[in-house]
Amino acid sequence: MRVRFVNVDGTIRFRFRCHRRPLDDVALARPVEVAAQTGPWVAPDSEKAKKNPLPADKKTIEQGEKVAKINCVSCHGPLGKGNGPAAVALNPKPADWTSKRVQDEPDGEIFWKITTGRGAMPSWRHLPENDRWALVRYIRTLAGK
Ligand code: HEC
Repeated sequence: MRVRFVNVDGTIRFRFRCHRRPLDDVALARPVEVAAQTGPWVAPDSEKAKKNPLPADKKTIEQGEKVAKINCVSCHGPLGKGNGPAAVALNPKPADWTSKRVQDEPDGEIFWKITTGRGAMPSWRHLPENDRWALVRYIRTLAGK
């Protein structure tokens, strides 16, 4: 068996040949980056302190629900439990929005996490700020469900 390591665009590529079978290629994500993303995820204090500029009214909550249905349910699930169809392959799993852990975070922290993303959780910076605050209002309605 012959093993070669080739760096291609920051990924590591393993090439190996066993008993004259064809070459198999396995591309792996950089291990260091993955390890750095498994610890606690905490927003800076200045971000935690930011207040939600939108009221918790029906219009805002419906806006948040609509944005979540389009962008988030594939991973977070239709009820925000973190069990959408795309969650199967993910580790860490998408957060359970109904959980005490998430609900105990201030609005500013949830907003910041939606904005910045981490690992498999995409950054939603490109969504209008208004939509991201509406998402936070919607997530609040799922507490304990
Ligand atoms: C591709 C899958 C995926 C999609 C789509 C996705 N998320 Fe996530 N989300 C994750 C994963 C995975 C985590 C856990 C990240 C971690 O802990 O490192 C996460 C974590 C979070 C958290 C952090 C909760 C906490 O307190 O730790 C929030 C809030 C969140 N997502 C909101 C959203 C919103 C809102 C959307 C849609 C606009 C969304 N996510 C779309 C995968 C996804």
